[in-house]
Amino acid sequence: MTSFRNKNILITGGASGIGRLMGEYMAQKGGTIILWDINKKALEETKEDISKKGGNVHAFLCDVTDKQKVYETADKLKETCGNLDILVNNAGIVIGKPFWECSDEEIEKTMNVNTMSMFWTVKAFLPDMINANAGHIVTISSAAGIVGASRLTDYNASKFAAFGFDESLRMEFRSRKMKIRTTIICPYFINTGMFKGVKTRFSWLLPILDEKVVAKKIVKAIENNRSRLIMPGIIYSSWLMRYLPVSVFDWIAEFLGVSSAMEKFVGRKEEMHTIS
Ligand SMILES: NC(=O)c1ccc[n+]([C@@H]2O[C@H](COP(=O)([O-])OP(=O)(O)OC[C@H]3O[C@@H](n4cnc5c(N)ncnc54)[C@H](OP(=O)(O)O)[C@@H]3O)[C@@H](O)[C@H]2O)c1
Repeated sequence: MTSFRNKNILITGGASGIGRLMGEYMAQKGGTIILWDINKKALEETKEDISKKGGNVHAFLCDVTDKQKVYETADKLKETCGNLDILVNNAGIVIGKPFWECSDEEIEKTMNVNTMSMFWTVKAFLPDMINANAGHIVTISSAAGIVGASRLTDYNASKFAAFGFDESLRMEFRSRKMKIRTTIICPYFINTGMFKGVKTRFSWLLPILDEKVVAKKIVKAIENNRSRLIMPGIIYSSWLMRYLPVSVFDWIAEFLGVSSAMEKFVGRKEEMHTIS
C-alpha cells in the first residue's frame, strides 16, 4: 500500500473535474499536491480551495502540449518541492465531432493533450524515478481507450494510445526489475461537464459516473498499487466480446447505445483550451 503522506504528487489538468477532486482527496491524506493546468482562474481557485481545507498545494500554469514548457515547469517543480513521487497524467480534451468535421488543428490538439503530453511529462520525471528506483505513473485513459464509438475517432485514438503507453511502460519497468509502479484508469462517461449531453441507454448497466465516486476510486487504486482500474466493471467484458465476429461486436455496441452515446454531445463548447 502506498501512503500519500509527504509525497509529491503532480496532477496535470488538475484545476477542474476529477483532477481537482483527486488533488483534494490526496491532500486530505497528507500528500503535497502540485497542479498543472492551462486555466489560470480555475487553477487559482482550486489551489485556494485545497489550501483552505488544510492541504499542502502548489500550482503552475503549464500547457502540457508545450514540450519546452513542460521541461521548464518540471525543473521549477523540483526546485520548489523536490523530486516527484507520483505523476498523474490527467489533462484531457474532447472535440466530439464526426471525424470528417474535425479540423486538422482539432485532431492535432486532441492527440497532443491526451497522448503526446504524457511523453513529455514522463520524460521530465522518469530519470529521477529511475535513480530513486521508486515512483508511480498514473495514466488517465478512458473506456474510450478500450472500445470505439462514433464522434470520438480522434479521442478514441488518443485514449487507445494512452492505454498502450501505460502497458508498455509497465513491461519496461518489469523487465528491468524497477520498482516504479504504473496504474491505468479507464472510466466510462463521468458527470464533470467534459462530456455534457451524452446519453446512456441502459443506465443500470452503463451509468454516467459520479465525479466524486470516480476520483475516490482512483485515489484508492493508487493507494492500493492497482495496475488497472476500469469503471464500471462490465467494460471488462468487451475484451471477451472481441472473440465474436466483428459484426456481432458492432451490433452489441449499437444495442447497448455505446456507439450512439455521443449523438447529443454538447461538451464544454464555450471554452477555448488555451492558456487563459
Ligand atoms: N469526463 C469523462 O466523462 C471522462 C471519461 C473517461 C475519461 N476521462 C478523462 O479524464 C481526464 C479528466 O477529465 P475531466 O472530465 O475531469 O475533464 P475536465 O473537467 O475538462 O478537466 C480537464 C482539465 O485539463 C485542462 N487542460 C486541457 N488542456 C490542457 C493543456 N494543454 N495543458 C494543461 N491542462 C489542460 C482543462 O483546462 P480547461 O478547462 O481550460 O480546458 C481542465 O482544467 C481526461 O483525460 C479525460 O479524457 C474523462
